[in-house]
Amino acid sequence: MRAVVLREFGPPARLTIGEVPEPRPGAGQVTVRVAAVGVQFLETQVRSGALRGAGLPVVLGKEIAGEVKEVGPGGDPALVGTRVLASTSGTGGYAEIAAVPADSLIPIPAGLGLHDAVALYRYGATAQGLIRAARVAAGDRVLVQAAAGAVGTVLVQLLTRAGATVVGAARGERKLDLVTGLGAGHVVDYSLPGWTDRVREAVGGSVEVVFDHIGGTLGQEAFGLLTPGSGRQVVFGFSSGAPLEVAPMELMGRGLTVSGFSAGLIWNRPAFARELVTEVLGLAAAGRFTPVIGQRFPLEKAADAHAAVEARDTLGKTLLIP
Ligand SMILES: NC(=O)c1ccc[n+]([C@@H]2O[C@H](COP(=O)([O-])OP(=O)(O)OC[C@H]3O[C@@H](n4cnc5c(N)ncnc54)[C@H](OP(=O)(O)O)[C@@H]3O)[C@@H](O)[C@H]2O)c1
Repeated sequence: MRAVVLREFGPPARLTIGEVPEPRPGAGQVTVRVAAVGVQFLETQVRSGALRGAGLPVVLGKEIAGEVKEVGPGGDPALVGTRVLASTSGTGGYAEIAAVPADSLIPIPAGLGLHDAVALYRYGATAQGLIRAARVAAGDRVLVQAAAGAVGTVLVQLLTRAGATVVGAARGERKLDLVTGLGAGHVVDYSLPGWTDRVREAVGGSVEVVFDHIGGTLGQEAFGLLTPGSGRQVVFGFSSGAPLEVAPMELMGRGLTVSGFSAGLIWNRPAFARELVTEVLGLAAAGRFTPVIGQRFPLEKAADAHAAVEARDTLGKTLLIP
């Protein structure tokens, strides 16, 4: 079967298509014929070598949608042919067929396509978890950084549904138009000077919550927008390459909270993760939530997909199609 193999850390061109042995399911596993696999920003950081951990050679890819091909010894044969979402152990998704733990399977509701489902799968749980972690209440003014991104487009919609006043910050008109269409009350281009003033004007002051996966200068500037006494910034990534740095004294003086979030903690509780995902999938199947898939690349163009994500040239989710 074909798979995208990374043999050496480095630029996107290191992702090359090749023939590899087809996996067979072991006990407790199934194999899935992959219809679409999500590209996660984190995978670009693993590929480049910025985040170590993966051994080489490796087939990246965590989140897949497809049909069950084969079940492992002792597994339920009725699963074969069913439409599912599944998580690999962290590798093996950029492929025509992937082996996954049977207990990671989530059935895809009727009325929802495989591509739409995978676009909402892991990041649906992430966005729900973030909103709970920040204890967002109706009426809170909330700043979403990179609001046109894969996590951002899910966050904006869920926050709007929760009754928050959403400010979507992103770069460039194309992205801002998308975020407006998803229901954000306000949009601001944070690549322009004075962007924080625009946020203040939009919400009439400060914001209660910042969702920040960018860090660096933009994260720091967003931190300055928090409401004294109640403001909280949730840090869940460092897309700029530099995580947010805040000294405890800055928190003390303004009575602020900075907290960290890892979706891994949600996925360690499978029943809870399943509940969060199922809720978002249900909304989408009922037409009350819009999955945003900005880019689909054939599997052999995985390098182009990574290049686009790194160039900040993507809208919503990026999928590879085997
Ligand atoms: N902690 C967790 O559990 C967890 C779970 C899921 C995702 N994440 C993190 O969330 C972040 C977003 O992931 P995603 O897949 O949804 O990506 P994404 O938001 O679709 O893409 C990243 C976006 O960040 C913005 N950005 C700002 N500065 C950037 C820079 N220097 N380089 C690249 N992008 C920059 C860009 O939007 P603009 O052009 O609009 O600035 C870009 O499109 C990642 O850092 C990821 O690791 C964390």
